[in-house]
Amino acid sequence: MNLIFLGPPGAGKGTIAAELKKKLPLDHLSTGDMLRSEMKEGTELGKMAKGYIDEGKLVPDQVIIDMVEKRLAASSGNVLFDGFPRTVEQAKALDKIAKIDAVINLAVDADVVVARICSRRICRDCGAVYNTNWHSGETCDACGGALYIRDDDNESTARKRFDVYMEQTAPLIEYYDKQGIVHTYDVSESTSYVAEEVAAMLESGK
Ligand code: AP5
Ligand code: ZN
Repeated sequence: MNLIFLGPPGAGKGTIAAELKKKLPLDHLSTGDMLRSEMKEGTELGKMAKGYIDEGKLVPDQVIIDMVEKRLAASSGNVLFDGFPRTVEQAKALDKIAKIDAVINLAVDADVVVARICSRRICRDCGAVYNTNWHSGETCDACGGALYIRDDDNESTARKRFDVYMEQTAPLIEYYDKQGIVHTYDVSESTSYVAEEVAAMLESGK
């Protein structure tokens, strides 16, 4: 079974994916995490991607498609795609290599996500995601690692990312709607109910 998480930056894709993985045996493939790992290691790909990411723009399609293909070759199946595809071009490439069973569309408006992004903190060691609204310390509860703020998590870049999402990624809702596989969840207030509903929906096969 392959799933796509679609939703603007800060919608809660990573947070919900972490919850869903506790319920279902899914291989979490986040292109954002993969790119951040390349940047951390200082690879050529990471250096190239940083320029785009810091400006809130998308990394070129072919770079992403090659990276995903390589990663999928090492996967055992049952993939949760988070942050991919992000353009129709990427969706067409994915159609050629994997059958998508469901698209989880997270709906929320710009002001909510910009506020969430500006208060997000991430563990440098294990990648756990926190928010200063409900977590006040400077270290990770799970592993004690230091928390950091992503370079692209500031108000102006977050707004730019939202605009890029509306322009280049939101058309995918219609793309997958034609296949009848889109399931939309309102995450403007809570994201905590989504993993449970998605798991129930997948188990019932509807
Ligand atoms: P990526 O890492 O994919 O970032 P994104 O899509 O912008 O999504 P985020 O990671 O910002 O948010 P999220 O939805 O996972 O939210 P989270 O759960 O953390 O991509 C980064 C960049 O890489 C892109 O801009 C692009 O340049 C490049 N890139 C990546 N993939 C690409 C591709 N396929 N093609 C081209 N370029 C690509 O939650 C956010 C915060 O809100 C957290 O603090 C969380 O604790 C909090 N929160 C969650 N739910 C709630 C709630 N209900 N109430 C209050 N707070 C909440
Ligand atoms: Zn940690």
